[in-house]
Amino acid sequence: MANSSVWFWVFFAVVMLFGFVVFRGAPYVPTQRKYLTAAFSKLYQLKQGDVLVDVGSGDGRVLRLAAPIVKRAVGYELNPALVLISRLLSRKQQNIETRLTDFWLAKLPDDVTVVYAFSVSRDIKKLTRKIEHEAGRTGHDIKLITYGAGLDGRQPDESYQAFKLYIVHPLQPGSESL
Ligand SMILES: C[S@@+](CC[C@H](N)C(=O)[O-])C[C@H]1O[C@@H](n2cnc3c(N)ncnc32)[C@H](O)[C@@H]1O
Repeated sequence: MANSSVWFWVFFAVVMLFGFVVFRGAPYVPTQRKYLTAAFSKLYQLKQGDVLVDVGSGDGRVLRLAAPIVKRAVGYELNPALVLISRLLSRKQQNIETRLTDFWLAKLPDDVTVVYAFSVSRDIKKLTRKIEHEAGRTGHDIKLITYGAGLDGRQPDESYQAFKLYIVHPLQPGSESL
């Protein structure tokens, strides 16, 4: 009896951990590795100097794929269980960092060059504003790679299957956001 109640609470905690994030962003659905590999070869080839950020990094697979090439790979993830898994799986790659943080509230690294977002249409306006804000704050272009929903009313600079690449420029004061 006591045993089954422990399992009930474990199950409840896991459902809560994975469930509550839907109020803040996309639920956990990992990008398949073969699609990621193809996107980083056909859509955007990562460079040595790149600092890649995954907004909602899940188990950290995007970070691990990028880490052997880029300078740094930083993930923001709201689910503590996924942060733990990501840190465990990435422990041998020194240039990976997984932050237990809500990315909407986070200041991205000043040297960020590439942002990966497994995006859902509900959040696309917010995501656009966030990346435009970060490009303005850092004063340089940010390459935004979306998987799933693309930015409203804006043609991607490149696309490959469900991936889209947008070069987001720092906005001039007074210019219109999307
Ligand atoms: C669709 S999954 C993508 C995981 C990973 N990027 C990939 O492509 O395999 C979205 C992830 O974002 C996380 N997430 C959702 N909202 C978030 C937020 N506001 N801040 C940080 N992480 C968030 C979820 O917990 C989930 O792990």
